[in-house]
Amino acid sequence: MRVLVTGHQGYLGTVMAPILRQRGHEVTGLDTGYFAECVLGEVAPDPPTLRRDIRDVTSADLVGYDAVIHLAALSNDPLGALAPRITHAINHAASVRLAEAAKAAGVRRFLYASTCSVYGAAGEEFVDEDAPVRPLTPYAESKVRVEDDVAALADSGFSPVFLRNATAFGFSPRPRADIVLNNLVGYAVLTGVVRVASDGTPWRPLVHAADIADAFATCLTAPTAAIHARAFNIGAAFNNASVAEIAQTVVDVVPASRLVITGESGPDPRSYRVDFTRAGTELGFHARWGVRDGAAELYREYGVRLLSPVDFFERFTRLTWLQRLRDSGGLDGELRWVS
Ligand SMILES: NC(=O)c1ccc[n+]([C@@H]2O[C@H](COP(=O)([O-])OP(=O)(O)OC[C@H]3O[C@@H](n4cnc5c(N)ncnc54)[C@H](O)[C@@H]3O)[C@@H](O)[C@H]2O)c1
Repeated sequence: MRVLVTGHQGYLGTVMAPILRQRGHEVTGLDTGYFAECVLGEVAPDPPTLRRDIRDVTSADLVGYDAVIHLAALSNDPLGALAPRITHAINHAASVRLAEAAKAAGVRRFLYASTCSVYGAAGEEFVDEDAPVRPLTPYAESKVRVEDDVAALADSGFSPVFLRNATAFGFSPRPRADIVLNNLVGYAVLTGVVRVASDGTPWRPLVHAADIADAFATCLTAPTAAIHARAFNIGAAFNNASVAEIAQTVVDVVPASRLVITGESGPDPRSYRVDFTRAGTELGFHARWGVRDGAAELYREYGVRLLSPVDFFERFTRLTWLQRLRDSGGLDGELRWVS
């Protein structure tokens, strides 16, 4: 299939594009390049790239594609809180316009990167796709609104599907240090401490970046009836873990590291245990990577590629890096490139 991947120069997109190509798809990327230079070691060449802000995309850009995979976004809660108005403009308004433009251009499938964060503070109950959504932040709110607005565009020629990804982990040549497992391993490698900035009790389901890529690849070729306007939780029952359990796994993997649970009540009230049955039974998708293997992979890659504190605390932390680009005049207040 001819596939346009937005956000292909991000953490997930950099893993996904080669996997889609290996499966025979013809991939074009579209990205504004906020993190294009935030790499650790060698990166496989990007696919042909449209350097474009999704706020500027028109249907003329989308003619000829069989599917759009839409990853581009301000990609987490702290980023969303940085500028709720811009989060709305990029994550919600531009995403809905992108879907409308795709439909107008004759694109038949629209695969959207949603998130399990839509479940918010769900407590001990396992939440499936029919559970009420309780978005707690502008980021999660934007994801819910895109799902609603883009679902309304579904018709016989246009099939959107919403992949509610668990929190990702695992190595990407464009790493992120601000998601839980990647953060715990990187901090432990640099300091010897596995530091949990909470009491460790929140539930945080995890999924490897390569498994997310596999889920998108599955949705590209699944029968239309199986994906049409459906939401799927993407993750694995065996990776539904509390933050304290995740941290203990990191202690086991990173030699001579020690666990510190600060017990502070952090700024992040999310806690949810997720039921991942639907993607298994309806799509045949099953995540493969466990947390321990992912921690070991991160430990190995951070070591081989010589992760530095500047990388970890600045270049691979989305909020810090965007603030740096803005403060240095590279980006303006709307997060558009100045030149
Ligand atoms: N990583 C996770 O844990 C996770 C979990 C659930 C959902 N998601 C979703 O998956 C998607 C990808 O996540 P990621 O971790 O790769 O994030 P990321 O921040 O690493 O990548 C996002 C990409 O989108 C691009 N982008 C942002 N705004 C843009 C704009 N206005 N125009 C064009 N490009 C723009 C950025 O340059 C970047 O390359 C996001 O939509 C995110 O919300 C991620």
